[in-house]
Amino acid sequence: MTASLETTLGSIPLKHPIINASGTFDVLEADAVLEADIFEEFPFAAYVPKTVTLQPRTGNEPPRLYETAAGLLNSIGLANKGIENFIAKDLPRLAELPAPIIASVAGENTADYGRCCKLLDGCDEVTAVELNISCPNVELDGKALGCDPGRTEKATALARAATSKYLIVKLTPNVTDIVELAKAAAAGGADCLSVINTVHGMALHPWTLKPVLGHTTGGLSGPAVKPVALRAVYMVSRALDLPVIGMGGVTTAQDVLEFLAAGASAVAVGTASFRDPLLAPRLAGELRDLMEIRGMSSMGELIGTA
Ligand SMILES: Cc1cc2nc3c(=O)[nH]c(=O)nc-3n(C[C@H](O)[C@H](O)[C@H](O)COP(=O)(O)O)c2cc1C
Repeated sequence: MTASLETTLGSIPLKHPIINASGTFDVLEADAVLEADIFEEFPFAAYVPKTVTLQPRTGNEPPRLYETAAGLLNSIGLANKGIENFIAKDLPRLAELPAPIIASVAGENTADYGRCCKLLDGCDEVTAVELNISCPNVELDGKALGCDPGRTEKATALARAATSKYLIVKLTPNVTDIVELAKAAAAGGADCLSVINTVHGMALHPWTLKPVLGHTTGGLSGPAVKPVALRAVYMVSRALDLPVIGMGGVTTAQDVLEFLAAGASAVAVGTASFRDPLLAPRLAGELRDLMEIRGMSSMGELIGTA
């Protein structure tokens, strides 16, 4: 018996459940540096480019990456070319990918989310939009908009009103009760939730005992955050009747299996791709093996069974 890996995010069919996490896999860069034809053999079931904002951003002071014992700290600060450059320069090439494109947007205030979604609504290349509500914003003195249920609902509602595309809201784990934020996104009209973005952290230089990152603090990702992410996926998918994209520390096919059992309909791989850019193509095959060993033939026998 061959297990089928086909899954869906609402109305979007996926050939298998593995996608990339925003900001961790640049397919245009990979196309330039990898030997393999990444467009021909695209490993992910959907492609999520790095988050873009209305205006281009240079990001935070370097150093912006630091490896810890079991995870990666980053303080990139949403460096990006701006949404208009993304639409004009990147999207035409990305349209050649054999996978749906999930554009990721962020704003400095709730209104920005509506503006970004309006610009993307006319782009046929884009199947879905993910709202990254985890970045610091001006309305809240640098606190993430995604920490405030009222603003989460408002940003989602403005995005909902501006686009008919499939709408995903990416939640931050840096809150007391992630389910409360998930409910706010649902009330604003989200079709799907991405769970989780990075966890607040910092590192001191072992000799100078000063913060290593130029921005002092950063977001932790990788294996260190997997138990946090798994719990969040479990709690959110039990509390709400919306599909969930699970992520945070996924490194092996066993991790993918666990996130699906916890309730995710698809699973994103981020930090693990830095160590091995061609990890994702292997994960789908290994996931099938793990399902077959357990006598499972479809995603329906796995998703949400934990
Ligand atoms: C270097 C780096 C850049 C990231 N940039 C973004 C981004 O632009 N937008 C976003 O929504 N998440 C961003 N993330 C968060 C990831 O998409 C993901 O939610 C998080 O890293 C957890 O998954 P992982 O442990 O598999 O990396 C970034 C993460 C890293 C490590």
